[in-house]
Amino acid sequence: MNKQAFGSTADGQPVDIYTLTNKNGMQASVITYGGILTRLQTPGRAGQLDDVVLGFDDLASYLKGHPYMGAIVGRYGNRIGNARFTLDGIEYKLAANNGPNALHGGLKGFDKVVWQARDASDAQAERLELRYLSKDGEEGYPGNLSVTVVYSLTDQNELRIDYSATTDKDTVVNLTNHSYFNLGGSSEPDILGHELTLYADRFTPVDKTLIPTGELRSVEGTPFDFRKPALVGARINQKDEQLGFGGGYDHNFVLSSGGGSLALAARVREPKSGRVMEVLTTEPGIQFYTGNFLDGSLTGRGGRVFTKRSGLCLETQHFPDSPNKPAFPSTELKPGQKYQTTTVYRFSVSD
Ligand code: GLA
Repeated sequence: MNKQAFGSTADGQPVDIYTLTNKNGMQASVITYGGILTRLQTPGRAGQLDDVVLGFDDLASYLKGHPYMGAIVGRYGNRIGNARFTLDGIEYKLAANNGPNALHGGLKGFDKVVWQARDASDAQAERLELRYLSKDGEEGYPGNLSVTVVYSLTDQNELRIDYSATTDKDTVVNLTNHSYFNLGGSSEPDILGHELTLYADRFTPVDKTLIPTGELRSVEGTPFDFRKPALVGARINQKDEQLGFGGGYDHNFVLSSGGGSLALAARVREPKSGRVMEVLTTEPGIQFYTGNFLDGSLTGRGGRVFTKRSGLCLETQHFPDSPNKPAFPSTELKPGQKYQTTTVYRFSVSD
């Protein structure tokens, strides 16, 4: 595993970049700031390696602010309604950083902290272990939360992310990775021609602030039906209340697997390059987000401008606003328990 200095934060904390390589030449680069996956080189049909995630080449661009590109998101990925929740009869108030709601862990979430890194490679794979202690009360959340995230790059062309956490007080946890994928590679302008399959019969419709209403709605007969492969762009501009609220797709899908064990959640195929990405997860949900808020104001690696729909996210997760939705799978973590989830992005090529 290659390690290099990547600059330092405003308060002087050094940041490193680690590059994992597998026997096929596939590479993943991760920085200790935000645990951000900055670059992911995967082979196309003709074997050509190209970057399939949106990212920047310098720390300054990440420090300036960006919409969670490639970052580890926590303590609570996605939204919590009205920026508050009640646990054991105590109300916890969070920063309202997305309209009235809390989004992605708060003002300084796990995407903006420096993680402790260790090379944890073994005979099977290069592995980067990242650790972070989120103090009791940080961003309004209770309990000292000790978090470990391990990125592994296997010789089967899988990028595997194992998340684990323990707490000393009852709390809520929902960790994910917020990579924007474009399987067409670094010069493909958008993801509308990507073909997507989502192994989900239902999704969680939202209100206009993108908080789930609590309903688990069948995808049947809606633009949210990706049970058979469909182009991302085929129905994205249809007149549909839910697409209107999201400005495109920005919704949590209820995975048919139900979560708990590693199962196929999504499959994405980019016809021109032939690249295929399968997403497997132990999580019960996945947020499919089509980069609707990317507005061309940020320029990344190689002068690439991040315009609307230039990347898509498949954020494996528990459902948004679970702390306020007792009927959703629970995101509570208690002392003595271990939070443990795994997500695998598996790459291959097809005709
Ligand atoms: C998530 C949300 C989106 C948006 C992005 C970041 O995916 O669901 O609404 O906030 O993060 O821009």
